[in-house]
Amino acid sequence: MTKKSFATLAVATALSTSGVWAADVNEDMMEVSVKNFGALPDGRKAQMYVVKGPDGSKLELTNLGAVIVSLEVPDNQGHLEDVVLGFDEPTPYLTDSPYFGAVVGRYANRIDKGQFSLNGKQYKLAINNEPNHLHGGNVGFDKLLWNGSVVDTEDGPGVRFSTISSDQDEGYPGELYVSVTYVFTADNQLIIDYLASASDDTVVNISQHSYFNLAGQGDGSILGHTLKINADFYTPVTKSLIPTGEILSVSGTPFDFNTSKSIGRDINKSHEQLSFGGGYDHNWVLRSSEFPGDLHTAAILKDPESGRTMEVVTDQPGLQFYSGNFLDGIVEGKGGIAYQYRGAVALETQHFPDSPNQPHFPRTSLKAGETFKSRTIYKFSTSD
Ligand code: BGC
Repeated sequence: MTKKSFATLAVATALSTSGVWAADVNEDMMEVSVKNFGALPDGRKAQMYVVKGPDGSKLELTNLGAVIVSLEVPDNQGHLEDVVLGFDEPTPYLTDSPYFGAVVGRYANRIDKGQFSLNGKQYKLAINNEPNHLHGGNVGFDKLLWNGSVVDTEDGPGVRFSTISSDQDEGYPGELYVSVTYVFTADNQLIIDYLASASDDTVVNISQHSYFNLAGQGDGSILGHTLKINADFYTPVTKSLIPTGEILSVSGTPFDFNTSKSIGRDINKSHEQLSFGGGYDHNWVLRSSEFPGDLHTAAILKDPESGRTMEVVTDQPGLQFYSGNFLDGIVEGKGGIAYQYRGAVALETQHFPDSPNQPHFPRTSLKAGETFKSRTIYKFSTSD
């Protein structure tokens, strides 16, 4: 794709954006509306897109960081609760957020010392998580004000955010067009479609960084949630959380989630990898179908108290399970609630961390003109 066509895309997005902001879309019982979320410190305004389902379920998204601000789903008594961490206004997403609800990229997770080579050329990325590059750098996708529009998809009405990351943005080669489309269905499936294409060869790894607490945001720790991860292997890390390159069996270790168990059961066991991560902060090698790119169930998270269950389905080869080890009770989120240590869990579908430096990991390079496409679905349901 040429630079000229990127500009055309940007104009098309801006036009469709202004065309729909006043509109409500009603289809298949889902209702999408748009309102003002608030102003950023530089005066720009962030929008809030609200998607409501027939059972009262509600998804709120903002074009700032393509963030999921809130997600209300029922428990086994039909009682709705917001199950994601976030803020009531835009500015803290720029200043205080450990990527709450955000789309992270260009490269989700870490790249060792922010360096990699592509086509024989060495690239140096921003170092924002000493000594490494994390989640796209100082101004990653999570801090951009994306173009937003209400769209009609074959899965129902949705919200599409798109943006253009310029050539050399945070050190990455190539101009990159990226879009993220969220569709929330009447049966509480949150479908997320990613699309990207670049003007020059580059690397791409895009993920969703929502922090989930299925009891309700700010309601205690997630150590009592149960988790199943469909993976026989994980990628152990160094002290600075960069994969060592090994692909180790989870069998007989605290990393075995093949049979559902509480997150708290083994988290404090003595294990070098748990001490490096301060708990779970690792990439699991998903047991996918024999066809790379097919959708498969990566994980099932459940809160036994409320019965709320979330199944994570993806076409990605990896899952970063992060048990909220850096939450410390200082950051105050929605409703003035201070988010406590291990008060939420992120289940980030992705390629493996540091893949550009690990040739035996599934490839994350994107060639000029190629299209990166990926889908992840968070399916909510209840059980007794
Ligand atoms: C990483 C953690 C990091 C967190 C917030 C997760 O994806 O794995 O190490 O602390 O994001 O930045």
